[in-house]
Amino acid sequence: MRDVAIIGKGVTKFGELWDKSFRQLITETGAKAILEAGVSGTEIDALYIGSMGSGRFIGQEHIGALVADCSGFSHLHIPSTRVESACASGGLAVRQGYFSVASGINDIVVVGGIEKMTDVVGTEATSTLATVADQEWEAFFGATFPGLYAMIATKHMKDYGTTREQLAQVAVKNHANGALNPNAQFKREISLDAVINAPPVAYPLGMLDCSPVSDGAATVILCAAEKAKKYVDNPVKIIASGQASDTLALHGRREICTFDSTVYAAKMAYKQANLKPKDIDVAEVHDCFTIAEILAIEDLGFVKKGEGGKAIENKITTLDGEIPVNTSGGLKAKGHPIGATGVAQIAEIVAQIQGKADKRQIKNAKIGLTHNIGGTGASCVVHILEAM
Ligand code: COA
Repeated sequence: MRDVAIIGKGVTKFGELWDKSFRQLITETGAKAILEAGVSGTEIDALYIGSMGSGRFIGQEHIGALVADCSGFSHLHIPSTRVESACASGGLAVRQGYFSVASGINDIVVVGGIEKMTDVVGTEATSTLATVADQEWEAFFGATFPGLYAMIATKHMKDYGTTREQLAQVAVKNHANGALNPNAQFKREISLDAVINAPPVAYPLGMLDCSPVSDGAATVILCAAEKAKKYVDNPVKIIASGQASDTLALHGRREICTFDSTVYAAKMAYKQANLKPKDIDVAEVHDCFTIAEILAIEDLGFVKKGEGGKAIENKITTLDGEIPVNTSGGLKAKGHPIGATGVAQIAEIVAQIQGKADKRQIKNAKIGLTHNIGGTGASCVVHILEAM
């Protein structure tokens, strides 16, 4: 295994981007990343693209070939692979790119993530998202992601005394961070009252507890670490990559308030990096719903099980807290174009480590973690990054 570094990144604005096509979004972000890395097309050995539901969202499959084509690489015949793991598609694409460079097969790899979700009506977006839940045992009976996460939230409230206000505080924090991120879908702060009084979606979750339906793309350029400084003077090393799976449906779990896929993926990553949760300076975690961020900080070991709500209330995850979480605004405020999310999380941590996160920059960010979940935790990818 060779060390792998990130030498370029690009993220589009996330949101309802009706004026931009799938092709435009992926080429915009790819061009940004390639320019930042200073690599030429002939140096690129492979492409990996995370995308979850393009067949239903835009009627287009064969995404690997499409991205190579619209990026102007078709004449170079670069191998291009689409990667799918529900909402963790982007994180898993990074992991596949990481393996291909770590193995010595490739030197420079482009990893993109994209979803264009707003070209269909809301109900179609919801049912497309539900295709990654268990069709026979969940979706068939009408379960959607807000409904499934609402069940987890209700159980967390019952088991650990987590309050409605604590859930809402996740959204308040992430909107405050999103207000500082020029690429965020929602660049506005929201109050606790606004979250609690927002239109209900599935009790206890209201509209402002949910990540939105979004368009967007993100790209990072991976390079063999020993060659990285030939391209840029501030590469960031991927020091660990963990992945785990679990039952597709919630009812098969030993318990629903712990995502064992997070626990196992994190365990794998901490072991590879030889680090403990307390060594992490900043994290981007999968807050598709407010309860998901509470689960994530518990399952990643930042706080004890059951204490996530209290930790949010005590502000340990704010920009100036002990462990800042979702400095980008998270999925909640930055937006959640499914396939792009895991790649954009990596781009945010790279920016933090490079000291380039502008108004949302935290002090002394040397080691950062990304956490990308598929569905209700049936898959999870965790990466740990460090300055070189
Ligand atoms: N957070 C904040 N504002 C939101 C929002 C959200 N999640 N969703 C929509 N809005 C805003 C819109 O920007 C719009 O504002 P405007 O009137 O100022 O333009 C307004 O609310 C109405 O938007 P609309 O698109 O009509 O909302 P909707 O009722 O169709 O959808 C949700 C709201 C919560 C149902 C939708 O965002 C959703 O399904 N989210 C979950 C997505 C999901 O499951 N992802 C996978 C996770 S595993």
